[in-house]
Amino acid sequence: MDKEPILTKRMHLPGSHTLAVYESVGGYQSLRKALAMEPAAVIDEVKKSGLRGRGGAGFPTGLKWSFVPKESTKPKYLCCNADEGEPGTFKDRVILEKDPHSLIEGMLIASWAVGIRHGYIYVRGEFLDQIKILQGAIDEAYAKGYLGKGILGTAFDCDLTVHRGAGAYVCGEETALINSIEGKRGQPRLKPPFPAVVGLFGGPTVVNNVETLAAVPWILERGAAAYVAYGTEKSTGSKLFSVSGPVKNPGVYEIELGYPLMDFLNNECGGLRDGTILKAIIVGGSSVPILTAAECEGARLDYESLQQKGTMLGSGGMIVFPEGANMVRLLTRLAKFYAHESCGQCTPCREGSGFILRMLEQIYQGHGKLDDLDNILRVANNMTGNTICPLADAMQMPVVSWITKFRKEFEQYIISGQRGTGARHG
Ligand SMILES: Cc1cc2nc3c(=O)[nH]c(=O)nc-3n(C[C@H](O)[C@H](O)[C@H](O)COP(=O)(O)O)c2cc1C
Ligand code: SF4
Repeated sequence: MDKEPILTKRMHLPGSHTLAVYESVGGYQSLRKALAMEPAAVIDEVKKSGLRGRGGAGFPTGLKWSFVPKESTKPKYLCCNADEGEPGTFKDRVILEKDPHSLIEGMLIASWAVGIRHGYIYVRGEFLDQIKILQGAIDEAYAKGYLGKGILGTAFDCDLTVHRGAGAYVCGEETALINSIEGKRGQPRLKPPFPAVVGLFGGPTVVNNVETLAAVPWILERGAAAYVAYGTEKSTGSKLFSVSGPVKNPGVYEIELGYPLMDFLNNECGGLRDGTILKAIIVGGSSVPILTAAECEGARLDYESLQQKGTMLGSGGMIVFPEGANMVRLLTRLAKFYAHESCGQCTPCREGSGFILRMLEQIYQGHGKLDDLDNILRVANNMTGNTICPLADAMQMPVVSWITKFRKEFEQYIISGQRGTGARHG
């Protein structure tokens, strides 16, 4: 990124996860500033920054905070979504590992702005090391008076609790996450009511992604205008992308929104490994529609440009596919994931995902028929719009886009009766 990084600027410092290092570069000064402001003014600043949720849906953050009814007499809650279950996405874990205090400070500022006194961080259960680091940072913040009672000598009290998930992708969906924290089965709830009105323990609740909250201290420190100077008119600021696949430098990168996809691939990611030709890219986590190599040309990494290309920025989990990648095998593997993660409450999702998986497995095993492809598309297109949560869409989008864009490859596979010998998909 040409400009000064927002989210990753401290990550190269030795001991960047510690309070001492965080404070040495101005950490918790934004909290001080926020506590001297009216809560409504803090929400206003975040609204003006144009910050949008980085968990996938891109909902405006300040607006979400303003939906919480001020007059509610029930305790309000903040849930930080650190479940990070979307295949290909591994950017929040880097914040938890290398800059946990930016998340804690962001959560404190959000809590002050919304009138919250207790926040939960719902962390993917497999993140054992990250949970240890995060808990260590929370303990340090308590010891130094940034958490607990009378924060920084004010009347503001706030507690944070880490809650470990148990490995279900659907628990990343905000209402399933709330159920899971409550100790219930991790299944999505019908909306409305939305969590901002009836959420955790029946109280108004804000659910925000790790990266969203970690951007807040910078916005308070520099002001909304400084944030708006990054990115495009409607996609302001910067975004983390986690990149996997046959590129020379896979990893996590912060880029200014609006950055051309191919420049990102060739500059930051170092281009494709020698002898490899680009076949396709998933830009925003495995659930968003895939882009063919031709479609990648001219694509920019921001919400609007990617929408114009028929895909989504999503969580920023980028997966690069080389020529020669077996799309039948890979889609079968993806379908297996989504079918397994369907919580089963809605018939179109439960039955549709299982049906599609069985059809794809038959094709992969060399027993497919040409009209299976249209049957899969028909079932997939009937899965959406009729379910409690968008997990059904998360399966429909890859299935439809992969089969439509690589149909010849699927047909060829069926005609030749290829068997998936030697290549595991389970
Ligand atoms: C099946 C499913 C899984 C999700 N997983 C995550 C996740 O791991 N992390 C996340 O932040 N959001 C996830 N989301 C999106 C959340 O429901 C919610 O929109 C998000 O946490 C809101 O935060 P934001 O506004 O800061 O993006 C998921 C949504 C669905 C439907
Ligand atoms: S869409 Fe799927 S995962 Fe979501 S609530 Fe319905 S059955 Fe469960």
